[in-house]
Amino acid sequence: MNDVRLRDVIEADLPILFEQQLDPEANRMAAFPARDRETFTAHWTKILGDATVTRKTILFNGQVAGNIVSFEQSGKPLVGYWIGKNYWGRGIATRALSEFLGHVPARPLYAHVAKHNVGSIRVLEKCGFKPSDQNAKPSHAGDGDEVEEVVMELALEPTRRKLNPVFETDRLILRRLSTDDAEFILELVNDPAWLRFIGDRGVKTLDDARDYIRKGPIESYARRGFGLYAVERKEGGSPIGICGLVKRDFLEDVDIGFALLPEFRGKGYAHEAARATMSYAREVVGLDRIVAITSPDNDASARLLEKIGLRFERMIRISPDSPEEVRLYASADRSSGNLRALD
Ligand SMILES: CC(C)(COP(=O)(O)OP(=O)(O)OC[C@H]1O[C@@H](n2cnc3c(N)ncnc32)[C@H](O)[C@@H]1OP(=O)(O)O)[C@@H](O)C(=O)NCCC(=O)NCCS
Repeated sequence: MNDVRLRDVIEADLPILFEQQLDPEANRMAAFPARDRETFTAHWTKILGDATVTRKTILFNGQVAGNIVSFEQSGKPLVGYWIGKNYWGRGIATRALSEFLGHVPARPLYAHVAKHNVGSIRVLEKCGFKPSDQNAKPSHAGDGDEVEEVVMELALEPTRRKLNPVFETDRLILRRLSTDDAEFILELVNDPAWLRFIGDRGVKTLDDARDYIRKGPIESYARRGFGLYAVERKEGGSPIGICGLVKRDFLEDVDIGFALLPEFRGKGYAHEAARATMSYAREVVGLDRIVAITSPDNDASARLLEKIGLRFERMIRISPDSPEEVRLYASADRSSGNLRALD
């Protein structure tokens, strides 16, 4: 059995990861000095509390073999990994990185590697990274010696470059909306089902649609880092719908929303997009509780919400003078009102 798996880092892994980063040969390879226990603990406490960092423990046949992390530095997404010496030379770093790339959609993605670290450069090359044009800069190994660094880059594949996905599923890509999507949005928000279940947004022209995209999704990406995304099929074509996360003034929690054009309903696309959005909301955005609102007669939407793990909580009014109530659904989790009541 040679099983390589990734899972979230838990506190119990930290003593093992601490020992692994103490190895002098590994420190020389990575041109990175060992951290003492206090610095190590402070470092991991910080990254475990930082929702913008993706960090996974690498398991080899169930044992903690190392860790792999991705974080932003000066606006650039970077990846880094460390394998315990006992586990070197068995393809573990290569398999861990290639799986990790599925969890981290940011492209281009970079790695800074000491020029002499041929093993790590090989791992990156096997996963599609190439030396970037960005200039290598010297770094310090901790003993005063300067070490030359190579910046390795995983570029966007040409077919995906246009789409710049936020995340993807087996059949779908979810990407940010731009004002170029005005025609599609105009069609979607005037679809009879949208008008009946979501409401008339007063978007009647392409200019209105561009304005709607700017003031809605685009402003949300800038303010909150998430928003409603265009849903596209990997085989191509224009968007088939939208799905994503919205923070509304009248709700305390972030809610999930979705809508597909009529010809793409009933094919499991909404379920696929919404399920992935829930994982994204939890794992990338770091939300504990996710809610959804739906009109009382929208049974298709209610069924879908239940399939992705939300439960009906109560009826709410979206504003005090609104004539109609809507159904509020919420994810069942640690911080949900339901569970708190059980304590
Ligand atoms: C570098 C490191 C991640 C490699 O991990 P690993 O699990 O042994 O790597 P893999 O088994 O996946 O090896 C991938 C390739 O690199 C080669 N390789 C690995 N270590 C090597 C070394 N020291 N010298 C030459 N080649 C090496 C392997 O032969 C293999 O190539 P192949 O498939 O063409 O035969 C690991 O040694 C490590 O964690 N080192 C300390 C921390 C570090 O350097 N992190 C990276 C910072 S950028």
